[in-house]
Amino acid sequence: MINIALPKGRLGEKAYGMFEAAGFECPSIKEENRKLIFENPEKGVRYFWVKPSDVVIYVERGAADIGIAGKDIILEYKPDIYELADLGIGRCRMAVAAKKDFCDRRDRTLRVATKFPNIAKSYYSSLSREIDIIKLNGSIELAPILGLSDVIVDIVETGKTLYENDLEPKSDIVNISARLVANKVSYKFKNERIKEICGQIEKVIADKK
Ligand code: PRP
Repeated sequence: MINIALPKGRLGEKAYGMFEAAGFECPSIKEENRKLIFENPEKGVRYFWVKPSDVVIYVERGAADIGIAGKDIILEYKPDIYELADLGIGRCRMAVAAKKDFCDRRDRTLRVATKFPNIAKSYYSSLSREIDIIKLNGSIELAPILGLSDVIVDIVETGKTLYENDLEPKSDIVNISARLVANKVSYKFKNERIKEICGQIEKVIADKK
């Protein structure tokens, strides 16, 4: 049995659709209920829904053999796992944003609100810029509006949240998309199965292009 951690939500549903198209379907996952684990013994797959940022924890510790994680989470937590494929879904970018009239003063420590402190730190350290990180857990856009921070480092997908809150992107940090990841020990001991699944998923990715 291959254990697969999927991120709860729209991205996870899309990712499951790719596993289904790859021939690893599990019909019970579509039933309307609150179950978190679903398996199809015939196909040798067991799926479970986890909080998106927890996928890499399950995979790193081997509770899941493989999983789907956003590149943002991988860059932030730097888990000791293998990245096998870029699914090309969940595309967005990590960016710095601020109020439209924000004027950066290099002589002052920049206050940065974010859910991604490590990504923000490494970005600003590459610019040799001193910053003060304000770690938040959501609604990051509020911080510059209320004067809690000068800028934010956050995910921008359509740009709608920034626009509707009178903020604008100032610079891009990195492009993000969903990745197929694997536990290192599982990759060694369940190599044939994981390679088979990865190969079929890659075909689905290629067909979508
Ligand atoms: C993410 C991100 C932005 C928004 C960007 O928030 O933190 O707020 O989506 O999307 P857009 O560019 O299409 O508007 P999420 O929905 O995950 O909520 P939270 O960070 O506030 O919890």
